[in-house]
Amino acid sequence: MSVKVIRRKYERIARLYDILELPSEYGRYRPLRRQLFEGASGIVLDAGVGTGRNMPYYPADARVVGIDLSPAMLARAARRRARLGVAVELLEMDVLQTAFPDRHFDAIVATFLFCVLDEAQQLPALKELARICKPAGSIRILDYAFSRNPRKRAIMRLWAPWVRWAYGAAFDRNVERYAPAAGLEIVERRFLFQDIIKLIVARPSSPAG
Ligand SMILES: C[S@@+](CC[C@H](N)C(=O)[O-])C[C@H]1O[C@@H](n2cnc3c(N)ncnc32)[C@H](O)[C@@H]1O
Repeated sequence: MSVKVIRRKYERIARLYDILELPSEYGRYRPLRRQLFEGASGIVLDAGVGTGRNMPYYPADARVVGIDLSPAMLARAARRRARLGVAVELLEMDVLQTAFPDRHFDAIVATFLFCVLDEAQQLPALKELARICKPAGSIRILDYAFSRNPRKRAIMRLWAPWVRWAYGAAFDRNVERYAPAAGLEIVERRFLFQDIIKLIVARPSSPAG
């Protein structure tokens, strides 16, 4: 799906997003979001910030910037920022082509962003994150995978068309496959919820490696 189509989808769904996500948010995501921000400090990017669901877990001593394609999602995030009293700069920006200088961020977090990006957008997005990440920084990605369990996989297959239609998302992305081509090395990959939500931590490869 083109960036234009994705933006249109999120402009449409923004006002329902938090309500639709409520069961998953409370049933699954909350404890996982916390883990994504553990140990993050300095300048931190929340890429695809959405309605700001990660805000409660931003480290108090970090300077956080949240970017998103959709003004309607950003407007919701701004309301959450005011409600929670969180210090975060919110910017409308495409993760495939950001306006940040090279080596800008100490940590970059992307929760449920790569499942929304097309297969053809995975490498460009990862390359862009690699470009704006400091050499000693980290990129932390939380995303879906198809379960290997036949019963769970079948249920996910039933959900897939709705998820595609509503969010432009897919369960079968494999962002880590693009890490070497993006100049990143995977330092951690593990499932945080059953075998369907995974954490991937990457960092810029050293020039020698
Ligand atoms: C599934 S939502 C996840 C939102 C949030 N990170 C969360 O965990 O709830 C995906 C978000 O990524 C944004 N997005 C999609 N493609 C993007 C792109 N190319 N650049 C920036 N944001 C994008 C969408 O507008 C949407 O807000």
